[in-house]
Amino acid sequence: MMKISIKLGLWFFICIFIIETCSMIYLHRNVVHSLVNEELSSLKARGNSHRDVLEMSFDSTTLHHIGLMESQTDTEVVITNTDGKILETSKSIDDDIEKIISEAIEDIPRNGLILQSDLQEEKYIATVSSFDGGKENQGYVYMFKSKDQIHHFISQLNNHFILAALLILFFMFITIFFLSRALTKPLVSMKEATRKLSNGDFSVSLPVTSNDELGELSKSIQTLANDLNYLKKERNEFLASISHELRTPLTYIKGYADLGRRNDLDETERINYLNIIHEEADHVSVLLKELFELAKMDQNAFSISKERTNICLFLQSIFGKVLPAFKSKGIHLELNCKEAFFVEIDPIRFEQVFLNLLDNALKYSKENTTTSIEVLQENKNIIIFIKDQGKGIPYDDLPYIFDRLYRVDKSRSRLTGGYGLGLAIVKEIVEAHNGEISVDSQDGKGTCFKIVLKEQLNENRFTDR
Ligand SMILES: Nc1ncnc2c1ncn2[C@@H]1O[C@H](COP(=O)(O)OP(=O)(O)OP(=O)(O)O)[C@@H](O)[C@H]1O
Ligand SMILES: [Mg+2]
Repeated sequence: MMKISIKLGLWFFICIFIIETCSMIYLHRNVVHSLVNEELSSLKARGNSHRDVLEMSFDSTTLHHIGLMESQTDTEVVITNTDGKILETSKSIDDDIEKIISEAIEDIPRNGLILQSDLQEEKYIATVSSFDGGKENQGYVYMFKSKDQIHHFISQLNNHFILAALLILFFMFITIFFLSRALTKPLVSMKEATRKLSNGDFSVSLPVTSNDELGELSKSIQTLANDLNYLKKERNEFLASISHELRTPLTYIKGYADLGRRNDLDETERINYLNIIHEEADHVSVLLKELFELAKMDQNAFSISKERTNICLFLQSIFGKVLPAFKSKGIHLELNCKEAFFVEIDPIRFEQVFLNLLDNALKYSKENTTTSIEVLQENKNIIIFIKDQGKGIPYDDLPYIFDRLYRVDKSRSRLTGGYGLGLAIVKEIVEAHNGEISVDSQDGKGTCFKIVLKEQLNENRFTDR
């Protein structure tokens, strides 16, 4: 498998290399082209100035002077008359020059004509100017420059270009090397993290370095890891609590069964033991039933069939059911629900919600206190408060009371004997209805549970008429 940083770097490299090559070639051609043009026009200008001199004074001394002058430069001159007879040269004439001057030429513009500009094919670049000194004194000034001279220039230029290209490639290589590593580093660490996750190691920590898409991705993976870690921890704690929860009644059952097996027992004692065994077995089966309910809720495998319910009538029937128990413990119970609020709930499930909450209020309150149920409307929401003046929940325990098997009183005494499942069930049901439940409590003073059922009043308005 090719590493992503190498792949990315290679692509960068290829793209930039192609761009660089193209622009280098383009630049090189342009420079060479304008160099040749420059040479040609200076050659032409030189020819023109010779022409001017010849037109002013045409004699052998001037011709000789011109020839002499050119022999000291890197250009050459050939002066002919109109018949093609050579009057003066600065250099011995070779075949290429011969060929050029022997060609017939017509219509030479005043500022000269370019005869040859091709550097590839020919040995010289050449221009011609015609002079007219009156009468017989007419002819042509041919100027030549050997392409070797220009090639020398070009090869120097090439050297510069090659050096520049190499430097650019070098810096490009370094830049790409670091850039592609910097870009792919978070990806690589995320790959590592997910590999760890899939191996069951949830203790990953990804630094959030940027707030672009990569940063988001890394944040999501981190959240996933944290969630998995939390779930794993929760599952372990849950299993530990369950086994503890089951061990206690099973110890009782085993102990009393041992006692009941003894021969020297009278019948009433045996029945007493059997009753205890029966009671404990009941405990276990209730516990298992509730756990099973919760498991079903967790998978969203339990169905809620919502019905339009008058919440006041609904609460009144529950009120009637629990009132005797409250009365016998000497707790005052009241229900405040004035208007006819309609809500969409599953009445069977919600009965369980209120029974669990009222059961807690009853269990954790002393006599001569008040427990109240209140229904309010706020915007489009219906809010139900269940408030008691019981022993309250310590601040440190508040975040956990909706957890499974969580109880403030860790001793799991038989007196207050719950499993710590009631509120977990309440929360699942309320949330399955798209509602929210929260708690407010002061240790020693009382507890208030608040259930918010959202967006209920739209339906009220339509169905009330
Ligand atoms: N109204 C309340 N007043 C004081 N403490 C409460 C109240 N409601 C709940 N708690 C505390 O929160 C814990 C969790 O409540 P929850 O209803 O889940 O469990 P439980 O009542 O102990 O057992 P279960 O309801 O399963 O029989 C309780 O053990 C109790 O300590
Ligand atoms: Mg309870």
